[in-house]
Amino acid sequence: IMLDPCRHFIPVENVKKHLDVLALFKINRMHWHLTDDQGWRIEIKKYPKLTEVGSKRIDGEGTEYSGFYTQEQIKEVVKYAADRFITIVPEIELPGHELAAISAYPELSCKGEPTTPRIIWGVEDIVLCAGKEKPFEFLQDVFDEVAPLFPGEYIHIGGDECPKTAWKNSAFCQQLIRQLGLKDDTTPSKIDGIKHSKEDKLQSYFVTRMEKYLNSKGKNIIGWDEILEGGLAPNATVMSWRGVEGGMNAAKAGHNAIMTPNPYVYLDYYQEEPEIAPTTIGGYNTLKKTYSYNPVPDDADELAKKHIIGIQGNIWREYMQTSERTDYQAFPRAMAIAETAWTQNANKDWKNFCERMVTEFERLKVMNTQPCLNFYDVNINTHADENGPLMVLLESFYPNAEIRYTTDGSEPSKVSILYEKPFVLEGNIDLKAAAFKDGKMLGI
Ligand code: ACM
Repeated sequence: IMLDPCRHFIPVENVKKHLDVLALFKINRMHWHLTDDQGWRIEIKKYPKLTEVGSKRIDGEGTEYSGFYTQEQIKEVVKYAADRFITIVPEIELPGHELAAISAYPELSCKGEPTTPRIIWGVEDIVLCAGKEKPFEFLQDVFDEVAPLFPGEYIHIGGDECPKTAWKNSAFCQQLIRQLGLKDDTTPSKIDGIKHSKEDKLQSYFVTRMEKYLNSKGKNIIGWDEILEGGLAPNATVMSWRGVEGGMNAAKAGHNAIMTPNPYVYLDYYQEEPEIAPTTIGGYNTLKKTYSYNPVPDDADELAKKHIIGIQGNIWREYMQTSERTDYQAFPRAMAIAETAWTQNANKDWKNFCERMVTEFERLKVMNTQPCLNFYDVNINTHADENGPLMVLLESFYPNAEIRYTTDGSEPSKVSILYEKPFVLEGNIDLKAAAFKDGKMLGI
């Protein structure tokens, strides 16, 4: 599971509680996204301004938002996780998503102009300058301090969402492109079938150079699937987030891949009706859809099967100001991800999973963790076959629940119409449905 304390900071005690719950479901890696445009969250002794300046942002109303982990706190969390058989994989983003660092040390960007950490979400155009030596020196120093804090094999170097505008306009970058002899592709790449620009290749140069440095320190790198663009660093593991293609292409090329496709396992997406759910970034991944994901399809080629080494759910926290909201977004879907990670696809059984979930919800309660509870509700769906009428399908995840509904907007009771099969939607109705067990309503 990936946890993002950059958009909203997470105090150490809350990270520990999160680890307790992950351990309960046998989740054995926590990818800790420690740097981003909106905040730098790890103490680096050689560059004190990263936290003095880069961990603070001032929102539109003038309120300061801040927080970071000292190296002592990082060690404490790493040990706490290890005691629960969880390895922490730190992420230090490069070359994009670095505005917080650039705010502290403006010379890291191409133009070197003063700036501040980003106060809105989304993708930032100001990035580390690939054409200067300073950003490489900076990152090597940062990794000199980060690597010893995390005993695991991997360091995640980000690599996603790095716009190339600044590099196209930078004399430093264009000079390096000429020096390295980088050219725009005239034929599609063998790995992903896309023609890449010389600036994409400059990103590949950047990542490969950092990979070499980290390999020399005994670490392997993981990067988001954009690191495929312009050529993959020789030993990199690819984390496939924009669907499954990046991971499949990497695996077919003999690289390890971790699958975290956003249409299945992004835990910041909605999981229940957006009309009633707290605001999220968007998307729609129900528990059932998350559970349905099979990272290693039967028809995948053998090389791909061998190189898909795991799956991950991502908790991007733009819209999660608190740990309570984080729990609501993460659970129960993280449990579906854990089951997929540890179970051969042929042995997965949605109905059986739902039966076991009833006890798992009790366990979450004991852990003082409040999940999304639409498991106890009825999902109202519509469906039409070609030229067929619009049908209403009602579904409850709760095992063997009775679904009862009304069409006049009144609250359903144990004597309302019993749902037996999909029915035709006719006229203007106000449908309300609820699930019942032994004559008691489960939730609405
Ligand atoms: C990502 O969600 N930008 C990796």
